[in-house]
Amino acid sequence: MCGIVAYVGDRTAYPILIKGLQRLEYRGYDSAGIALLNGQTNVYKCKGKVKDLQALSKDKEISGTVGMGHTRWATHGEPSDHNAHPHRSMNGKFFVVHNGIIENYTHLKKELSNRGYKFQSETDTEVLANLIENIYLEKSVSAELAVRLALTKVVGAYGLVISCEDEPGMLIAARKGSPLVVGVGEHEYFLASDATPIVEYTDQVMYLNDEEVAVITRDGLDLKNLENDSKTPDFKKITLSIDHIDKGDYEHFMLKEIHEQPMSIRDTFRGRVAMDESKIFLGGVLDVMPQLIKAKRIIIVACGTSWHAGLVGEYLFEKYGRIPVEVEYASEFRYRDPIIQEDDLVIAISQSGETADTLAAIRKVRETGATILGICNVAGSSIARETDAGVYTHAGIEIGVASTKAFTSQITVLTMMALLLGSKRQVLPASEYKELIHELIQVPSKIEEILKQESEIEKIAAVYKDVTNALYMGRGLLFPVALEGALKLKEISYIHAEGYPAAEMKHGPIALIDENMPVFALAANDQSYEKMVSNIQEVKARKGKVIAIATKGDKGIRKMADHVIEIPECHEAVSPLLAVVPLQILSYHIAVMRGCNVDQPRNLAKSVTVE
Ligand code: AGP
Ligand code: GLU
Repeated sequence: MCGIVAYVGDRTAYPILIKGLQRLEYRGYDSAGIALLNGQTNVYKCKGKVKDLQALSKDKEISGTVGMGHTRWATHGEPSDHNAHPHRSMNGKFFVVHNGIIENYTHLKKELSNRGYKFQSETDTEVLANLIENIYLEKSVSAELAVRLALTKVVGAYGLVISCEDEPGMLIAARKGSPLVVGVGEHEYFLASDATPIVEYTDQVMYLNDEEVAVITRDGLDLKNLENDSKTPDFKKITLSIDHIDKGDYEHFMLKEIHEQPMSIRDTFRGRVAMDESKIFLGGVLDVMPQLIKAKRIIIVACGTSWHAGLVGEYLFEKYGRIPVEVEYASEFRYRDPIIQEDDLVIAISQSGETADTLAAIRKVRETGATILGICNVAGSSIARETDAGVYTHAGIEIGVASTKAFTSQITVLTMMALLLGSKRQVLPASEYKELIHELIQVPSKIEEILKQESEIEKIAAVYKDVTNALYMGRGLLFPVALEGALKLKEISYIHAEGYPAAEMKHGPIALIDENMPVFALAANDQSYEKMVSNIQEVKARKGKVIAIATKGDKGIRKMADHVIEIPECHEAVSPLLAVVPLQILSYHIAVMRGCNVDQPRNLAKSVTVE
C-alpha cells in the first residue's frame, strides 16, 4: 500500500515529511520521495525504503517550509528511481504525488503526446502532472482551476497533493477513492493518507470527501468540489494518541476493524448507488460491461476468507444474475488444466491484491482471452493492476491478519455486481432491483445494532473459550458464513473448527456430536429455516451445545438453543453481511481470553505473497 504526507507552514518541512513517511511504513510500499519548495523545488526520490530516501537527501539542500512526500506502491511502471514520486510536469510548473490509479491514463497520455508532451516515467501519475500543466498553460487559468478541470477528465482513484512553481506557498489536495486527511495548526496545515503522521502536531483534522479539492496556504484552506461549489471544511477533534495511533481506543486492530464495518460498508457503496436507490454504478467495470452481459459463466478465484466471499457471490450471481458460477480455490485452479472459454468471466477476489496463488490463477487465465475482474481492497495492488477491470472494496486499511471488514466489503461489492448484472441482463425486475438495493443500504445501521450486543456475545465466548473443537453449520447463503466463522475461530484462537452445509451433518460430522462439541448454527429466517430447526434438534438430541445466530424475535430458536445471538430482520440476500458479525466478535473474544496474539496469529501473514 502507499502513502502521502505534505506540509505548508512556518516549520522546516523536511523532518515532518520524513517522520510522516516513516509513520506510514506499515502500509507497505516499494519506493519513496519528497519535494521541498524553497523558491525552487528540490526533489529527492528513489526505489527502496524511507531510510534510503534519507540517505539520498541528507547532505542535499533540504530547506523549505512547504513540501510533500510519497511512498509508492507501483501500479504503472516498475518500482524504480524515475517512476518514484513526486512527478514533475514537463515544463516544471507542477509537482504531483498520487495514491491510486488513473484508469484512463493511456488515452490521456496519447492526447498529451500529440500535443508534444514527453514523459520521463511509465507512470499514470506523470500523465496527470502533464495534463494539469497543459490546461494551465493553454487556458491561462489558475493552478486550482487547472487541477479541477484536469480531474474532470480523469477516470480512476486518486489521493493527490500538487504544488505549482508560480504559487510557491500553496498546495492543492484532491481526493477520489484514496483517502486524504487534512490537519490544521497555528499558521500551518498537514496532509496525509491517514491521521498517523498528523496527530503529533494537531488534533484538528478533516477527511477530504470524494471529488473535493482543497487549496491550502499557511493562512487558510479553501475547499470546493469539482463543480467549483464551495464546501465548508469539517474539522473535528481527533482523540487518537500517538502510541495507539492506528488502534484508536481499541485493544486490537481486529476489534477496531469489526467495529468499522458500518462505516466501511458505507464506503464500499458510497458513490455507487443512485440517490433514488434505483440503480448501481460500478465505474470500474464500465469498460467491460458488454463482456459481463454476454458472459456464459463466471469463475471466481480466491483464497481463504476471500474464497468464502466468492461462495456468497456464487449464490448471488446465480439467483439475481441468472448466470452459472464456479468458485475455485486459486491454489488448485492454477495447477489444474481448467477449461476456460473466451466468453467466461473470471473474478479474482483478494483483500491484499498480492496473494500469490490468486495472482498466479489470473495469470493462467490471461492467455485464454477471458475477461478478468478484480475485487481488491488495496489500490494499485498487483491483482488490481493485472486484471482487465475491477471494483475496489474501499474498506480502508485492514491491518488485523484475520480479515473482517474486507470480507463484508467484498460481499457488498459482489451483491452490487450481481444486482447490476441481473439488471443489465434483464433478468432482474426493476422493482426487485430497487428493493434489494434498499436492503443493502440498510445493512450498516443493522450491523450497528449487532455491535451493541458485544458484551453479551463476550459472555458466550467465555463459556466456550476452552473447547478443543467446534462445528459451524448453515444453509444456502449462510453456508459460506459457517465456513468463515470456523476460519475466524481457527486462525486466531487455534481451536480446531469446521464449517459444514447443515444438511451434511447427518452424512458423517454428526458422529462428532457430544456434550463437549459446541455447534454454531446460522438459523436466520430464510427459505431453509425449518430445515435448520431440524438440524439444531438433531444436535440437541445428541447432547451437543448449540449457539444459534437467529433473527431478532425468533422465540422458537430460544427454546432449543443453549445460546442465541439475534440479528435484525433482513432480506435473505444480505443475511451473510449480518450473520458473520456475531461470529467475528465471538472468535475475537475467545482468542483474547486464550491469550492469543489476535492481530498477528502464529504462522500467519496478512498477505500471503508466497506459494
Ligand atoms: C482471512 O482471515 C485470512 N487472513 C486469509 O484466509 C486470507 O483471507 C487469504 O490469505 C486471502 O488473502 P487476500 O484476500 O489478501 O487474497
Ligand atoms: N499509480 C501510481 C503509480 O504507479 C501511484 C501508485 C500508488 O498509489 O502508490 O506510481
